[in-house]
Amino acid sequence: MQEIVLARPDDFSGWRDAARGLAETGVAPQEVVWRIDRDGADLFADPAARGQEPGAPPGRTAERRNLRVPRRFVDLAELVVCHRDPERFALLYRLLCRLQDQPQLLDIATDDDVARVDLMAKSVRRDRHKMTAFVRFREVNTPEGTRYLAWFEPEHHIVELTAPFFVERFAAMRWTIITPLASVCWNLEALSFGAGGSRDDVPAEDAAEEDWRTYYSSIFNPARLKVDAMRREMPVKYWKNLPEASLIAPLIRSARNSEAAMVDSPQNSVPKRAATILARSDGMREDPPAAGGNSLDALRREAAGCRRCDLYKFATQTVFGEGLPTADLVFVGEQPGDKEDLAGKPFVGPAGAMFDRALGDAGIDRKRAYVTNAVKHFKFEPRGKKRIHKKPGIGEINACHAWLEQELAVLRPRLTIALGATAIRSLTGQSASVLGTRGRVLSSPLAGPVFVTVHPSFLLRLPDADSQRTEYERFVADLRAAKEIAAREPGELAAPTP
Ligand code: URA
Repeated sequence: MQEIVLARPDDFSGWRDAARGLAETGVAPQEVVWRIDRDGADLFADPAARGQEPGAPPGRTAERRNLRVPRRFVDLAELVVCHRDPERFALLYRLLCRLQDQPQLLDIATDDDVARVDLMAKSVRRDRHKMTAFVRFREVNTPEGTRYLAWFEPEHHIVELTAPFFVERFAAMRWTIITPLASVCWNLEALSFGAGGSRDDVPAEDAAEEDWRTYYSSIFNPARLKVDAMRREMPVKYWKNLPEASLIAPLIRSARNSEAAMVDSPQNSVPKRAATILARSDGMREDPPAAGGNSLDALRREAAGCRRCDLYKFATQTVFGEGLPTADLVFVGEQPGDKEDLAGKPFVGPAGAMFDRALGDAGIDRKRAYVTNAVKHFKFEPRGKKRIHKKPGIGEINACHAWLEQELAVLRPRLTIALGATAIRSLTGQSASVLGTRGRVLSSPLAGPVFVTVHPSFLLRLPDADSQRTEYERFVADLRAAKEIAAREPGELAAPTP
Protein backbone atom coordinates (compact mmCIF):
# COMPACT_ATOMS: atom_id res chain seq x y z
CA MET A 1 0.00 0.00 0.00
CA GLN A 2 1.30 3.46 -0.87
CA GLU A 3 0.44 6.51 1.14
CA ILE A 4 0.41 9.82 -0.68
CA VAL A 5 0.37 12.89 1.50
CA LEU A 6 -0.93 16.04 -0.11
CA ALA A 7 0.08 19.43 1.16
CA ARG A 8 -3.37 21.00 1.23
CA PRO A 9 -7.01 20.00 0.76
CA ASP A 10 -7.01 21.69 -2.68
CA ASP A 11 -3.52 20.57 -3.70
CA PHE A 12 -4.18 19.98 -7.39
CA SER A 13 -0.56 20.05 -8.52
CA GLY A 14 0.44 17.70 -5.70
CA TRP A 15 -2.33 15.28 -6.67
CA ARG A 16 -1.50 15.60 -10.38
CA ASP A 17 2.22 14.92 -9.95
CA ALA A 18 1.64 12.01 -7.62
CA ALA A 19 -1.13 10.54 -9.78
CA ARG A 20 1.04 10.83 -12.87
CA GLY A 21 3.93 9.03 -11.20
CA LEU A 22 1.67 6.31 -9.85
CA ALA A 23 -0.21 5.73 -13.10
CA GLU A 24 2.94 5.74 -15.19
CA THR A 25 4.36 2.96 -13.07
CA GLY A 26 1.11 1.00 -13.06
CA VAL A 27 0.10 1.34 -9.42
CA ALA A 28 -3.50 0.12 -9.03
CA PRO A 29 -5.99 2.52 -7.42
CA GLN A 30 -6.68 0.13 -4.56
CA GLU A 31 -2.98 0.20 -3.65
CA VAL A 32 -3.00 3.92 -2.88
CA VAL A 33 -4.13 5.80 0.21
CA TRP A 34 -4.50 9.56 -0.16
CA ARG A 35 -4.07 11.77 2.83
CA ILE A 36 -3.83 15.49 3.47
CA ASP A 37 -0.94 16.69 5.55
CA ARG A 38 -2.44 17.91 8.80
CA ASP A 39 0.45 20.26 9.56
CA GLY A 40 0.07 21.97 6.21
CA ALA A 41 3.76 21.44 5.39
CA ASP A 42 4.26 21.35 1.66
CA LEU A 43 5.75 17.91 1.36
CA PHE A 44 5.73 18.05 -2.40
CA ALA A 45 8.10 20.94 -2.34
CA ASP A 46 10.72 18.46 -1.19
CA PRO A 47 10.18 14.93 -2.44
CA ALA A 48 13.20 13.82 -0.43
CA ALA A 49 11.22 14.63 2.71
CA ARG A 50 9.06 11.66 1.87
CA GLY A 51 12.04 9.54 0.90
CA GLN A 52 10.71 8.79 -2.59
CA GLU A 53 9.63 10.35 -5.85
CA PRO A 54 5.90 11.06 -5.98
CA GLY A 55 4.24 7.91 -7.15
CA ALA A 56 7.24 5.61 -7.38
CA PRO A 57 6.15 2.57 -5.41
CA PRO A 58 8.72 1.14 -3.07
CA GLY A 59 10.59 -1.77 -4.55
CA ARG A 60 9.07 -1.36 -8.00
CA THR A 61 11.32 -0.66 -10.97
CA ALA A 62 10.33 2.52 -12.70
CA GLU A 63 9.09 1.03 -15.94
CA ARG A 64 6.98 3.91 -17.16
CA ARG A 65 4.11 3.86 -19.59
CA ASN A 66 2.80 6.79 -21.57
CA LEU A 67 -0.32 8.21 -20.06
CA ARG A 68 -3.42 9.32 -21.89
CA VAL A 69 -4.77 12.38 -20.08
CA PRO A 70 -7.53 14.24 -21.96
CA ARG A 71 -7.69 17.98 -21.35
CA ARG A 72 -11.29 17.56 -20.26
CA PHE A 73 -10.18 15.27 -17.46
CA VAL A 74 -7.54 17.75 -16.31
CA ASP A 75 -10.14 20.55 -16.21
CA LEU A 76 -12.53 18.35 -14.26
CA ALA A 77 -9.82 17.22 -11.85
CA GLU A 78 -8.83 20.80 -11.11
CA LEU A 79 -12.36 21.47 -9.92
CA VAL A 80 -13.02 18.14 -8.23
CA VAL A 81 -9.85 18.37 -6.13
CA CYS A 82 -11.52 21.36 -4.44
CA HIS A 83 -14.60 19.33 -3.47
CA ARG A 84 -14.85 18.52 0.21
CA ASP A 85 -15.60 14.83 -0.36
CA PRO A 86 -12.69 12.97 1.33
CA GLU A 87 -12.71 10.38 -1.46
CA ARG A 88 -12.06 12.87 -4.23
CA PHE A 89 -8.37 12.09 -4.74
CA ALA A 90 -8.94 8.33 -4.87
CA LEU A 91 -11.91 8.74 -7.21
CA LEU A 92 -9.93 10.92 -9.60
CA TYR A 93 -7.01 8.53 -9.58
CA ARG A 94 -9.33 5.59 -10.32
CA LEU A 95 -10.79 7.53 -13.26
CA LEU A 96 -7.33 8.39 -14.54
CA CYS A 97 -6.38 4.69 -14.50
CA ARG A 98 -9.63 3.65 -16.19
CA LEU A 99 -9.15 6.30 -18.88
CA GLN A 100 -6.00 4.51 -20.01
CA ASP A 101 -8.08 1.55 -21.27
CA GLN A 102 -11.28 3.48 -22.02
CA PRO A 103 -10.33 6.80 -23.63
CA GLN A 104 -14.01 7.72 -24.18
CA LEU A 105 -14.96 6.99 -20.58
CA LEU A 106 -15.86 10.60 -19.77
CA ASP A 107 -18.59 10.48 -22.43
CA ILE A 108 -20.37 7.68 -20.56
CA ALA A 109 -22.55 9.82 -18.33
CA THR A 110 -24.16 6.74 -16.76
CA ASP A 111 -20.86 5.40 -15.45
CA ASP A 112 -20.86 5.74 -11.64
CA ASP A 113 -17.41 7.35 -11.40
CA VAL A 114 -18.08 9.74 -14.29
CA ALA A 115 -21.49 10.72 -12.94
CA ARG A 116 -19.96 11.33 -9.53
CA VAL A 117 -17.13 13.57 -10.72
CA ASP A 118 -19.53 15.46 -13.00
CA LEU A 119 -21.76 16.18 -10.02
CA MET A 120 -18.81 17.16 -7.87
CA ALA A 121 -17.43 19.50 -10.53
CA LYS A 122 -20.87 21.06 -10.88
CA SER A 123 -21.11 21.62 -7.17
CA VAL A 124 -17.66 23.26 -7.07
CA ARG A 125 -18.54 25.49 -10.06
CA ARG A 126 -21.70 26.56 -8.33
CA ASP A 127 -19.85 27.27 -5.10
CA ARG A 128 -17.34 29.43 -7.01
CA HIS A 129 -20.16 31.28 -8.71
CA LYS A 130 -21.74 31.98 -5.33
CA MET A 131 -18.45 33.22 -3.94
CA THR A 132 -18.00 35.65 -6.83
CA ALA A 133 -21.57 36.86 -6.36
CA PHE A 134 -21.96 37.02 -2.58
CA VAL A 135 -18.68 38.22 -1.13
CA ARG A 136 -19.32 41.62 0.47
CA PHE A 137 -16.34 43.67 1.58
CA ARG A 138 -16.25 45.88 4.68
CA GLU A 139 -13.86 48.77 4.81
CA VAL A 140 -11.34 48.89 7.67
CA ASN A 141 -8.50 51.28 8.38
CA THR A 142 -5.16 49.61 8.93
CA PRO A 143 -1.60 51.03 9.32
CA GLU A 144 -0.92 50.21 5.65
CA GLY A 145 -4.07 52.10 4.58
CA THR A 146 -7.62 51.06 3.80
CA ARG A 147 -8.22 47.35 3.57
CA TYR A 148 -11.43 45.60 2.57
CA LEU A 149 -12.39 42.54 4.55
CA ALA A 150 -14.98 39.94 3.70
CA TRP A 151 -16.31 36.85 5.37
CA PHE A 152 -17.61 34.02 3.22
CA GLU A 153 -18.62 30.43 3.92
CA PRO A 154 -17.95 28.25 0.89
CA GLU A 155 -18.97 24.62 0.75
CA HIS A 156 -15.72 23.47 -0.84
CA HIS A 157 -12.02 24.34 -0.86
CA ILE A 158 -12.39 26.99 -3.54
CA VAL A 159 -10.54 29.96 -2.08
CA GLU A 160 -7.31 29.59 -4.03
CA LEU A 161 -9.01 28.67 -7.28
CA THR A 162 -11.39 31.62 -7.08
CA ALA A 163 -8.97 34.27 -5.76
CA PRO A 164 -7.81 35.39 -9.26
CA PHE A 165 -11.37 36.54 -9.98
CA PHE A 166 -11.14 39.04 -7.11
CA VAL A 167 -7.67 40.16 -8.15
CA GLU A 168 -8.97 41.00 -11.58
CA ARG A 169 -12.05 42.72 -10.18
CA PHE A 170 -10.43 44.58 -7.31
CA ALA A 171 -6.80 44.88 -8.37
CA ALA A 172 -6.50 48.41 -7.00
CA MET A 173 -7.80 47.59 -3.50
CA ARG A 174 -6.11 45.83 -0.61
CA TRP A 175 -8.48 43.09 0.38
CA THR A 176 -8.76 39.96 2.49
CA ILE A 177 -11.34 37.24 2.25
CA ILE A 178 -11.66 35.04 5.31
CA THR A 179 -13.46 31.72 5.24
CA PRO A 180 -13.65 28.96 7.84
CA LEU A 181 -11.16 26.86 5.84
CA ALA A 182 -8.66 29.34 4.43
CA SER A 183 -8.06 33.02 3.91
CA VAL A 184 -6.57 35.04 1.10
CA CYS A 185 -4.98 38.49 1.06
CA TRP A 186 -4.24 40.78 -1.87
CA ASN A 187 -1.67 43.49 -1.21
CA LEU A 188 -1.86 45.18 -4.65
CA GLU A 189 0.99 43.02 -5.93
CA ALA A 190 0.66 39.46 -4.79
CA LEU A 191 -1.78 37.03 -3.27
CA SER A 192 -1.02 35.22 -0.04
CA PHE A 193 -3.00 32.39 1.48
CA GLY A 194 -3.39 31.54 5.12
CA ALA A 195 -5.43 29.59 7.61
CA GLY A 196 -9.15 30.00 7.98
CA GLY A 197 -10.73 32.35 10.46
CA SER A 198 -14.05 33.17 12.00
CA ARG A 199 -16.84 35.57 11.25
CA ASP A 200 -15.68 37.72 14.18
CA ASP A 201 -12.47 38.51 12.27
CA VAL A 202 -14.53 40.74 9.99
CA PRO A 203 -16.35 43.80 11.34
CA ALA A 204 -20.09 43.44 11.19
CA GLU A 205 -20.96 46.64 9.42
CA ASP A 206 -19.54 49.80 7.94
CA ALA A 207 -20.96 53.03 6.60
CA ALA A 208 -20.94 51.81 3.01
CA GLU A 209 -23.49 49.17 3.90
CA GLU A 210 -26.16 51.74 4.56
CA ASP A 211 -25.55 53.14 1.07
CA TRP A 212 -25.68 49.67 -0.36
CA ARG A 213 -29.00 48.96 1.39
CA THR A 214 -30.45 52.22 0.10
CA TYR A 215 -29.27 51.36 -3.39
CA TYR A 216 -30.67 47.84 -3.15
CA SER A 217 -34.10 48.98 -2.04
CA SER A 218 -34.20 51.57 -4.80
CA ILE A 219 -33.39 49.04 -7.55
CA PHE A 220 -35.68 46.36 -6.14
CA ASN A 221 -38.48 46.03 -8.65
CA PRO A 222 -41.62 44.41 -7.23
CA ALA A 223 -42.86 43.63 -10.75
CA ARG A 224 -39.90 41.32 -11.17
CA LEU A 225 -40.33 39.53 -7.90
CA LYS A 226 -39.69 35.80 -8.36
CA VAL A 227 -39.15 34.46 -4.89
CA ASP A 228 -38.24 30.90 -5.92
CA ALA A 229 -35.69 32.09 -8.46
CA MET A 230 -34.32 34.48 -5.88
CA ARG A 231 -33.90 31.72 -3.32
CA ARG A 232 -32.29 29.49 -5.94
CA GLU A 233 -29.84 32.16 -6.96
CA MET A 234 -29.24 33.62 -3.55
CA PRO A 235 -29.66 30.62 -1.23
CA VAL A 236 -30.85 31.54 2.21
CA LYS A 237 -27.62 30.31 3.83
CA TYR A 238 -25.75 33.27 2.27
CA TRP A 239 -28.25 35.87 3.45
CA LYS A 240 -26.75 36.27 6.89
CA ASN A 241 -23.58 37.73 5.40
CA LEU A 242 -25.26 40.09 2.97
CA PRO A 243 -26.03 43.63 4.10
CA GLU A 244 -29.06 43.79 1.80
CA ALA A 245 -30.49 40.55 3.21
CA SER A 246 -32.27 42.30 6.07
CA LEU A 247 -34.29 44.14 3.44
CA ILE A 248 -35.44 41.15 1.47
CA ALA A 249 -38.31 39.98 3.67
CA PRO A 250 -39.87 43.47 4.15
CA LEU A 251 -39.46 44.24 0.46
CA ILE A 252 -41.15 40.99 -0.52
CA ARG A 253 -43.99 41.72 1.91
CA SER A 254 -44.50 45.22 0.63
CA ALA A 255 -44.35 44.00 -2.98
CA ARG A 256 -47.09 41.48 -2.23
CA ASN A 257 -49.21 44.14 -0.57
CA SER A 258 -48.93 46.46 -3.56
CA GLU A 259 -49.69 43.58 -5.92
CA ALA A 260 -52.83 42.77 -3.94
CA ALA A 261 -53.83 46.43 -3.99
CA MET A 262 -53.35 46.54 -7.77
CA VAL A 263 -55.45 43.42 -8.32
CA ASP A 264 -58.23 44.89 -6.16
CA SER A 265 -58.18 48.20 -7.94
CA PRO A 266 -61.13 48.82 -10.32
CA GLN A 267 -58.82 50.60 -12.81
CA ASN A 268 -56.70 47.50 -13.21
CA SER A 269 -57.37 46.81 -16.88
CA VAL A 270 -54.76 46.40 -19.64
CA PRO A 271 -54.03 49.87 -21.01
CA LYS A 272 -55.31 50.33 -24.56
CA ARG A 273 -51.91 50.77 -26.16
CA ALA A 274 -50.51 47.66 -24.46
CA ALA A 275 -53.54 45.66 -25.59
CA THR A 276 -52.98 46.74 -29.21
CA ILE A 277 -49.34 45.78 -29.05
CA LEU A 278 -50.20 42.41 -27.52
CA ALA A 279 -52.78 41.77 -30.22
CA ARG A 280 -50.24 42.64 -32.91
CA SER A 281 -47.56 40.31 -31.67
CA ASP A 282 -48.67 37.38 -33.89
CA GLY A 283 -48.29 34.95 -31.04
CA MET A 284 -44.52 35.35 -31.08
CA ARG A 285 -43.31 35.36 -27.51
CA GLU A 286 -41.15 38.38 -26.93
CA ASP A 287 -39.54 37.67 -23.57
CA PRO A 288 -40.08 40.45 -21.10
CA PRO A 289 -37.06 42.74 -21.16
CA ALA A 290 -37.41 42.97 -17.40
CA ALA A 291 -35.87 39.50 -17.13
CA GLY A 292 -32.51 41.11 -17.64
CA GLY A 293 -33.15 43.80 -20.21
CA ASN A 294 -33.16 46.46 -17.53
CA SER A 295 -29.75 45.49 -16.26
CA LEU A 296 -28.37 45.20 -19.77
CA ASP A 297 -29.69 48.66 -20.52
CA ALA A 298 -28.08 49.98 -17.37
CA LEU A 299 -24.79 48.32 -18.31
CA ARG A 300 -25.02 49.69 -21.84
CA ARG A 301 -25.53 53.21 -20.48
CA GLU A 302 -22.66 52.82 -18.06
CA ALA A 303 -20.35 51.37 -20.71
CA ALA A 304 -21.06 54.34 -22.97
CA GLY A 305 -18.81 56.40 -20.69
CA CYS A 306 -16.13 53.72 -20.31
CA ARG A 307 -12.58 54.98 -19.89
CA ARG A 308 -10.99 51.83 -18.61
CA CYS A 309 -8.38 52.01 -21.35
CA ASP A 310 -7.35 54.58 -23.96
CA LEU A 311 -9.39 53.20 -26.84
CA TYR A 312 -12.34 55.50 -26.03
CA LYS A 313 -10.20 58.49 -27.03
CA PHE A 314 -10.13 57.54 -30.70
CA ALA A 315 -13.25 55.47 -31.25
CA THR A 316 -16.60 57.06 -32.10
CA GLN A 317 -18.52 55.29 -29.35
CA THR A 318 -18.74 52.22 -27.18
CA VAL A 319 -20.31 49.36 -29.12
CA PHE A 320 -22.17 47.33 -26.55
CA GLY A 321 -23.72 43.91 -27.17
CA GLU A 322 -27.26 43.55 -28.38
CA GLY A 323 -29.88 40.88 -28.75
CA LEU A 324 -32.39 38.94 -26.72
CA PRO A 325 -31.77 39.26 -22.96
CA THR A 326 -32.94 35.66 -22.46
CA ALA A 327 -30.94 34.23 -25.35
CA ASP A 328 -29.69 30.65 -25.08
CA LEU A 329 -26.74 31.47 -27.32
CA VAL A 330 -24.36 34.37 -26.82
CA PHE A 331 -21.77 35.08 -29.51
CA VAL A 332 -18.61 36.91 -28.53
CA GLY A 333 -16.46 38.49 -31.24
CA GLU A 334 -13.24 40.45 -30.95
CA GLN A 335 -13.97 44.17 -31.19
CA PRO A 336 -16.15 46.42 -33.35
CA GLY A 337 -14.83 47.27 -36.80
CA ASP A 338 -15.09 50.50 -38.75
CA LYS A 339 -18.79 50.09 -39.63
CA GLU A 340 -19.74 48.95 -36.15
CA ASP A 341 -17.92 51.91 -34.63
CA LEU A 342 -20.02 54.28 -36.71
CA ALA A 343 -23.30 52.43 -36.28
CA GLY A 344 -22.85 51.67 -32.57
CA LYS A 345 -23.92 48.05 -33.19
CA PRO A 346 -21.91 44.83 -33.24
CA PHE A 347 -21.37 42.79 -36.41
CA VAL A 348 -23.03 45.04 -38.95
CA GLY A 349 -20.04 45.37 -41.36
CA PRO A 350 -18.57 42.83 -43.80
CA ALA A 351 -17.74 40.30 -41.06
CA GLY A 352 -21.29 40.80 -39.76
CA ALA A 353 -22.74 40.04 -43.20
CA MET A 354 -20.72 36.80 -43.36
CA PHE A 355 -21.82 35.97 -39.81
CA ASP A 356 -25.50 36.61 -40.61
CA ARG A 357 -25.34 34.39 -43.68
CA ALA A 358 -23.71 31.55 -41.75
CA LEU A 359 -26.19 31.90 -38.88
CA GLY A 360 -29.04 31.65 -41.39
CA ASP A 361 -27.52 28.53 -42.98
CA ALA A 362 -27.06 26.98 -39.54
CA GLY A 363 -30.71 27.63 -38.68
CA ILE A 364 -29.97 30.16 -35.95
CA ASP A 365 -32.17 33.23 -35.68
CA ARG A 366 -29.92 36.17 -34.79
CA LYS A 367 -32.89 37.97 -33.26
CA ARG A 368 -33.15 35.22 -30.67
CA ALA A 369 -29.43 35.28 -29.86
CA TYR A 370 -27.21 37.89 -28.23
CA VAL A 371 -24.13 39.22 -30.00
CA THR A 372 -21.31 41.11 -28.35
CA ASN A 373 -17.56 41.65 -28.40
CA ALA A 374 -14.70 41.05 -25.98
CA VAL A 375 -13.55 44.64 -26.51
CA LYS A 376 -16.17 47.33 -26.90
CA HIS A 377 -14.20 50.09 -28.63
CA PHE A 378 -12.78 50.05 -32.16
CA LYS A 379 -8.99 49.91 -32.20
CA PHE A 380 -7.47 51.10 -35.44
CA GLU A 381 -4.53 52.74 -37.14
CA PRO A 382 -5.29 55.71 -39.38
CA ARG A 383 -3.98 55.20 -42.91
CA GLY A 384 -4.90 58.11 -45.16
CA LYS A 385 -8.66 58.33 -44.96
CA LYS A 386 -8.96 54.74 -43.86
CA ARG A 387 -9.03 53.33 -40.37
CA ILE A 388 -7.26 49.97 -40.39
CA HIS A 389 -8.31 47.43 -37.76
CA LYS A 390 -5.66 46.74 -35.14
CA LYS A 391 -5.80 43.74 -32.83
CA PRO A 392 -6.56 44.64 -29.22
CA GLY A 393 -3.77 43.95 -26.73
CA ILE A 394 -4.04 41.97 -23.51
CA GLY A 395 -4.32 45.20 -21.51
CA GLU A 396 -7.33 46.31 -23.56
CA ILE A 397 -8.93 42.87 -23.40
CA ASN A 398 -8.48 42.83 -19.64
CA ALA A 399 -9.74 46.38 -19.23
CA CYS A 400 -12.93 45.51 -21.11
CA HIS A 401 -13.36 42.16 -19.44
CA ALA A 402 -15.58 43.56 -16.69
CA TRP A 403 -18.25 44.55 -19.24
CA LEU A 404 -18.34 41.13 -20.82
CA GLU A 405 -18.43 39.55 -17.43
CA GLN A 406 -21.38 41.66 -16.34
CA GLU A 407 -23.22 41.09 -19.60
CA LEU A 408 -22.84 37.34 -19.15
CA ALA A 409 -23.86 37.51 -15.50
CA VAL A 410 -27.15 39.05 -16.60
CA LEU A 411 -27.63 36.90 -19.69
CA ARG A 412 -26.58 33.53 -18.21
CA PRO A 413 -26.78 31.81 -21.61
CA ARG A 414 -26.82 28.06 -22.06
CA LEU A 415 -23.79 28.32 -24.32
CA THR A 416 -21.36 31.09 -25.17
CA ILE A 417 -19.65 30.92 -28.53
CA ALA A 418 -16.15 32.36 -28.72
CA LEU A 419 -15.51 33.70 -32.22
CA GLY A 420 -11.75 33.68 -32.45
CA ALA A 421 -8.75 34.01 -30.15
CA THR A 422 -9.58 37.34 -28.47
CA ALA A 423 -12.93 36.01 -27.33
CA ILE A 424 -11.31 32.79 -26.05
CA ARG A 425 -8.81 34.84 -24.10
CA SER A 426 -11.43 37.05 -22.52
CA LEU A 427 -13.84 34.23 -21.74
CA THR A 428 -11.44 31.63 -20.40
CA GLY A 429 -8.42 33.67 -19.37
CA GLN A 430 -6.30 31.34 -21.53
CA SER A 431 -4.28 32.20 -24.60
CA ALA A 432 -5.47 29.08 -26.39
CA SER A 433 -5.21 28.94 -30.17
CA VAL A 434 -8.40 28.67 -32.17
CA LEU A 435 -6.81 25.88 -34.16
CA GLY A 436 -6.19 23.80 -31.06
CA THR A 437 -9.59 24.35 -29.46
CA ARG A 438 -11.99 24.74 -32.38
CA GLY A 439 -15.18 22.73 -31.95
CA ARG A 440 -14.42 22.08 -28.28
CA VAL A 441 -16.35 23.18 -25.23
CA LEU A 442 -14.11 24.95 -22.73
CA SER A 443 -15.03 25.97 -19.25
CA SER A 444 -15.05 29.59 -18.24
CA PRO A 445 -15.31 31.16 -14.80
CA LEU A 446 -17.69 33.76 -16.19
CA ALA A 447 -19.71 32.11 -18.86
CA GLY A 448 -20.24 28.42 -18.10
CA PRO A 449 -19.57 26.34 -21.20
CA VAL A 450 -17.79 28.10 -24.06
CA PHE A 451 -17.79 26.67 -27.58
CA VAL A 452 -14.91 27.70 -29.81
CA THR A 453 -14.98 28.52 -33.47
CA VAL A 454 -13.25 30.88 -35.89
CA HIS A 455 -13.99 34.56 -36.27
CA PRO A 456 -16.11 35.27 -39.37
CA SER A 457 -13.52 37.75 -40.66
CA PHE A 458 -11.13 34.79 -41.05
CA LEU A 459 -13.40 33.66 -43.89
CA LEU A 460 -13.07 37.06 -45.57
CA ARG A 461 -9.31 36.77 -45.69
CA LEU A 462 -9.08 33.38 -47.44
CA PRO A 463 -7.25 33.66 -50.76
CA ASP A 464 -9.17 31.32 -53.09
CA ALA A 465 -12.72 30.26 -53.77
CA ASP A 466 -12.13 26.63 -52.81
CA SER A 467 -10.85 27.35 -49.34
CA GLN A 468 -13.55 30.01 -48.92
CA ARG A 469 -16.23 27.43 -49.67
CA THR A 470 -14.71 24.73 -47.48
CA GLU A 471 -14.08 27.02 -44.55
CA TYR A 472 -17.53 28.59 -44.79
CA GLU A 473 -19.09 25.14 -44.59
CA ARG A 474 -16.92 24.28 -41.61
CA PHE A 475 -18.02 27.48 -39.89
CA VAL A 476 -21.71 26.70 -40.53
CA ALA A 477 -21.13 23.16 -39.22
CA ASP A 478 -19.60 24.66 -36.05
CA LEU A 479 -22.60 26.92 -35.57
CA ARG A 480 -24.95 23.96 -36.03
CA ALA A 481 -22.92 22.00 -33.47
CA ALA A 482 -23.17 24.90 -31.03
CA LYS A 483 -26.93 25.03 -31.49
CA GLU A 484 -27.15 21.30 -30.87
CA ILE A 485 -24.96 21.50 -27.75
CA ALA A 486 -27.07 24.33 -26.33
CA ALA A 487 -30.15 22.14 -26.70
CA ARG A 488 -28.67 19.42 -24.48
CA GLU A 489 -29.54 18.75 -20.88
CA PRO A 490 -27.79 21.10 -18.42
CA GLY A 491 -25.64 18.25 -16.98
CA GLU A 492 -24.31 17.30 -20.39
CA LEU A 493 -23.83 20.91 -21.27
CA ALA A 494 -21.59 21.71 -18.38
CA ALA A 495 -18.90 19.23 -19.36
CA PRO A 496 -16.00 20.69 -21.29
CA THR A 497 -14.70 18.46 -24.10
CA PRO A 498 -11.10 17.33 -24.55
N1 URA B 1 -15.56 41.96 -35.75
C1 URA B 1 -15.88 41.72 -34.47
O1 URA B 1 -15.22 40.96 -33.78
N2 URA B 1 -16.92 42.31 -33.97
C2 URA B 1 -17.69 43.15 -34.68
O2 URA B 1 -18.63 43.65 -34.09
C3 URA B 1 -17.34 43.37 -36.00
C4 URA B 1 -16.28 42.78 -36.54
